[in-house]
Amino acid sequence: MSHLQCLTMATALILLQALSLVSCSILSRADRITRLPGQPRVGFQQYSGYVTIDDKKQRALFYYLAEAETKPISKPLVLWLNGGPGCSSLGVGAFSENGPFRPKGSVLVRNLHSWNQEANMLYLETPVGVGFSYATESSSYEGVNDKITAKDNLVFLQKWFLKFPQYLNRSLFITGESYAGHYVPQLAQLMIQYNKKHNLFNLKGIAIGNPVMEFATDFNSRAEYFWSHGLISDPTYKMFTSYCNYSRYVSEYYRGSVSSMCTKVMSQVSIETSRFVDKYDVTLDVCIPSVLSQSKVVNPRPQQVGETVDVCVEDETVNYLNRRDVQKALHARLVGTRKWAVCSNVLDYEVLDVEVPTINIVGSLVKAGVPVLVYSGDQDSVIPLTGSRTLVKRLAEELGLRTTVPYRVWFAGQQVGGWTQVYGNTLAFATVRGAAHEVPFSQPARALVLFKAFLGGRPLPEEF
Ligand SMILES: *[C@@H]1O[C@H](CO)[C@@H](O)[C@H](O)[C@H]1NC(C)=O
Ligand SMILES: *[C@@H]1O[C@H](CO)[C@@H](O)[C@H](O)[C@H]1NC(C)=O
Repeated sequence: MSHLQCLTMATALILLQALSLVSCSILSRADRITRLPGQPRVGFQQYSGYVTIDDKKQRALFYYLAEAETKPISKPLVLWLNGGPGCSSLGVGAFSENGPFRPKGSVLVRNLHSWNQEANMLYLETPVGVGFSYATESSSYEGVNDKITAKDNLVFLQKWFLKFPQYLNRSLFITGESYAGHYVPQLAQLMIQYNKKHNLFNLKGIAIGNPVMEFATDFNSRAEYFWSHGLISDPTYKMFTSYCNYSRYVSEYYRGSVSSMCTKVMSQVSIETSRFVDKYDVTLDVCIPSVLSQSKVVNPRPQQVGETVDVCVEDETVNYLNRRDVQKALHARLVGTRKWAVCSNVLDYEVLDVEVPTINIVGSLVKAGVPVLVYSGDQDSVIPLTGSRTLVKRLAEELGLRTTVPYRVWFAGQQVGGWTQVYGNTLAFATVRGAAHEVPFSQPARALVLFKAFLGGRPLPEEF
């Protein structure tokens, strides 16, 4: 970066309440990754490290930036967030879904459909207590909620721009999946509020995959999904829709008092659906060693088999990110925990926040002119496409948006990539055919087509 550019950036930094003005290239240089262990040679830069998000420097969030493969300066900045709450955007998002590499044994292999072909990809482990992100006092892990997370994410980005002034005012998109159906709209809303005072975030759109947006609609879509895919019998379907639906069960569960009716219904549902079927992708196989050892309830990861999909990628990622040499190369530290984990073991998140709707926030974003894409891997039974489709349609009706692209197929290559519908200029829904809860993991090529169209503000390809 030239001196002149640096000065211009510095001026912009004053506007955003810069803490100090330091020569621009130095700050991010310390975070530059020379090479990850086992990594093939690549032509783009990677950075990772910490941004402290409070003045006492007791809480720090870990990020990983994979710059665009070509012409990073001309490409947008895309923030990616995984859900949980409590799961890692580094381990799941970057290393299993849409990042440039996947761990395989002791090496990293290229992901041929990495999203950094189209954008500079920024992965954030959030909130504190997730992945390599930490707080020095464990009390900071208690009572963390959506509000705290959104605020911390906002502060993170403000401070991250101090390290990377070259990204100031770059087109910015926020993306994510699952519980990020809370994180992403909530963060976008804070950005818009912040922009009213200091125009800092050049927010160009959000995309959320299999997102939790409205508890009852999303969770109660599960029964019909199970039943129509043959995972439960007729009588069990009946019980699961009349005696105890899934939202009631989860509600009772989180309040520590599951009724005997719900216990009975859920136990029958569990027996019939089997733990050897992955609820995050009901059609594909499971990673056997992982299923046998798994006791995670919060967010067990999807694993599935396909020609190019490694069903045990989670185990590979856990091994890789727990290597000392890898942690050193990433400038990562383990604070207050001995092992990096896919989903946090220390975070005590306010679970009842799952019941707070975010579809209304999505509506306010659309009204503010922010393009929104809701997409859905159609093999997921956890947040099924039917619930998301209903919510988006209902929102369009509320906002008085007319259909601009009627429900139709879209193409990836010569095959149908899924179905899509667009309302007005800013609200789009799309399914991804044959995709899991984690769309870019299970259908990487289709996910990349979707991502590219989203960034370009274009409807999905109508023909091949
Ligand atoms: C930021 O980018 C927008 C276009 O996306 C442009 O209109 C605006 O002038 C830029 N602001 C600054 C401070 O460079
Ligand atoms: C789910 O159960 C709750 C509590 O019994 C009820 O209020 C709600 O209407 C049910 N929802 C559906 C979609 O059946």
